[in-house]
Amino acid sequence: MKILNLIFHPDLSGSRVNKTWKQQLDESGKITTSRDMYAEYPDFQIDIEREQRLLREHDRIIFQFPMFWYSVPPLLKKWLDDVLAYDFAYGENGDKLKGKDMQVIVSVGGREKFYSGFDIFASVPDLLRPFQLTANLVQMNYLVPEYMFEADASEVGTIESFGRTLAKKIDDPKRSDPRQYLYNEMTSDVEDSYEELGLK
Ligand SMILES: Cc1cc2nc3c(=O)[nH]c(=O)nc-3n(C[C@H](O)[C@H](O)[C@H](O)COP(=O)(O)O)c2cc1C
Repeated sequence: MKILNLIFHPDLSGSRVNKTWKQQLDESGKITTSRDMYAEYPDFQIDIEREQRLLREHDRIIFQFPMFWYSVPPLLKKWLDDVLAYDFAYGENGDKLKGKDMQVIVSVGGREKFYSGFDIFASVPDLLRPFQLTANLVQMNYLVPEYMFEADASEVGTIESFGRTLAKKIDDPKRSDPRQYLYNEMTSDVEDSYEELGLK
C-alpha cells in the first residue's frame, strides 16, 4: 500500500506534536511520501497537476494538521479547493480518487471535555464531517479519524506514545472498512475490560 502523508502546519519546525508524529511515521518506513505542505507552498500557489499526480500514485492519503479555530489551517482549505477539481475528483470523468483511503490525523489543543458533543460542545468527528462528506463525494473510503487532545499541554512521552500507536496502525488494510474497524476496536475494548475485571 502506497501512503501519502500531507502535513499542513504553518511552522512545522516549531511544532511539538505534528513534527514528532511526522518523524515517527517516517521512521516506521510505512509512508511512501511525506510532505511539509507549508514548506512546499509558502506563497500558497499550489501546483495542481503535481498534487493530482501524487494523489493518483498513492492508495491511502493522510491529512495531518493541528486544529485551528475548530477547522483546518488555511493552506489545507485552499489545497482542497484547488486540487479536488471537477473531472478529477468529481463530475462526469471525475473518478480518479475512487477507492482510495482518506485518513485524517489532527492535534487538538483543547481538553476532551470541551469536545464531548453535548449541547454547545461539538465532538472532533462532528467537526471533521466536511472531510467525511468530501470523501463520500469523491468516492474515497473515510477512515476512522485519529486525534489527540491537550496537544500543547501534553508531555513528550504522551505525544510519542500516540505517535507509536499511529505508526503501528497506519498501514492496516482493515482500516479501509471503518465500520468493521470501529466494531473491532470497541469489542476489543470490552474484552480488555473483562480481562481487567478478572471476568475472563
Ligand atoms: C490559530 C490557532 C487556532 C487554534 N484553534 C484551536 C481550536 O479551535 N481548538 C483547539 O482545541 N485548539 C486550537 N488551537 C491549538 C492547536 O490545535 C495546537 O496548538 C496544536 O494542535 C499543537 O500542535 P503542534 O505542536 O504540532 O503545533 C489553535 C492554535 C492556533 C495557533
